[in-house]
Amino acid sequence: MSEATDHLGAAPTIHVDEGMLRDVVEGLCRPQKELSPKYLYDTRGSELFEEITRTDEYYPTRVEQALLERVIPGWVAELRPRGFVELGAGSARKSRVVLDAMESEGGGNTYMPVDVSGDFLQEVATALRDEYPELTVEPAVADMTCEFDLPVHPPNRTWYALLGSTIGNFEEAQAASLLRRIAVQMKPGDRFLLGADRTPGEYKSRERLELAYNDRAGVTAQFTHNVLRVLNRELDADFDVDGFEHNAFYDPVEERIEIHLVARSDQVATIPGGGTIHVAEGESIRTELSHKYDRTRICRMFDEAGLVIDRWAEDDEGFYALVLGRKKDDTDVETD
Ligand code: SAH
Ligand code: AVI
Repeated sequence: MSEATDHLGAAPTIHVDEGMLRDVVEGLCRPQKELSPKYLYDTRGSELFEEITRTDEYYPTRVEQALLERVIPGWVAELRPRGFVELGAGSARKSRVVLDAMESEGGGNTYMPVDVSGDFLQEVATALRDEYPELTVEPAVADMTCEFDLPVHPPNRTWYALLGSTIGNFEEAQAASLLRRIAVQMKPGDRFLLGADRTPGEYKSRERLELAYNDRAGVTAQFTHNVLRVLNRELDADFDVDGFEHNAFYDPVEERIEIHLVARSDQVATIPGGGTIHVAEGESIRTELSHKYDRTRICRMFDEAGLVIDRWAEDDEGFYALVLGRKKDDTDVETD
């Protein structure tokens, strides 16, 4: 969508993305009103997510970074990937661990970060080209839940990656179909690198997990509220952002965090071309799911996608897992 003023100086014209309009209205008409998590990530949303990763409470980024630093140099030295396709790359801060390891194994590598947050992605790609002059950086602005083309043909021994436990933000069926599409794309010698936040257990209490989504400084709440600003801007809607309260909790049956915006009082919002949305006091719009995983759940997801676990690493406290998968029928262990 873009905002333009014609040369007669008339009021700005809002160009609405019809696909987004339909999707948003359809989600807000369900018994449990909900929005796709992808709408959280305009440039401000991407910046707010980065701020979340720096809060004391949000452990996944720090734990995943430490795990990557511990295992990736060894895995890369053994398997010598030449391509790295990262879905939902965000700032690619942790991706640098993989890129550094690939660089020290020899240049001529290709990095393809894929993300819906277009402007943010382009900035990240520019910074990476400066930092890694030997690296070919080919960003793609795309929704990973749909079919999309990569900008260039991936080289042999490409690693496809989904870090940060972003897999958890998708509904189970959506996550399964994403993994299947990745597996179909993979050739002999390719790998799939997954970062997954784990279910509460011996060390990680439910309270600890819930705190990660309820930081004291309220950054996560700002991130959640940002989705209403996105709807107001992109669809010319008129949600009262302050009329809603952030609420994040763990559901032990579904093994997931749910994040909702709960109406503080009766709310009425108009979405031009999409009608009027009523949210009663205490009713909520679900903005995010964040599934948590044990090894059984990951094995099942991999199995259903046609993948097997090649390597597994977790931190001492069992907060987080890094998993490297290959295709079931892939016996190619060649490194050159
Ligand atoms: N991988 C990074 C960022 C995680 S935040 C990390 O580990 O820190 C999730 C990222 O996925 C964001 O950058 C967001 O813009 C992107 N994203 C969310 N939904 C997406 C979708 N459907 N398709 C592509 N990217 C998506
Ligand atoms: C990107 N994703 C895996 C984050 C998560 O933990 O589900 C998004 C997030 N939402 C609130 N805090 C972090």
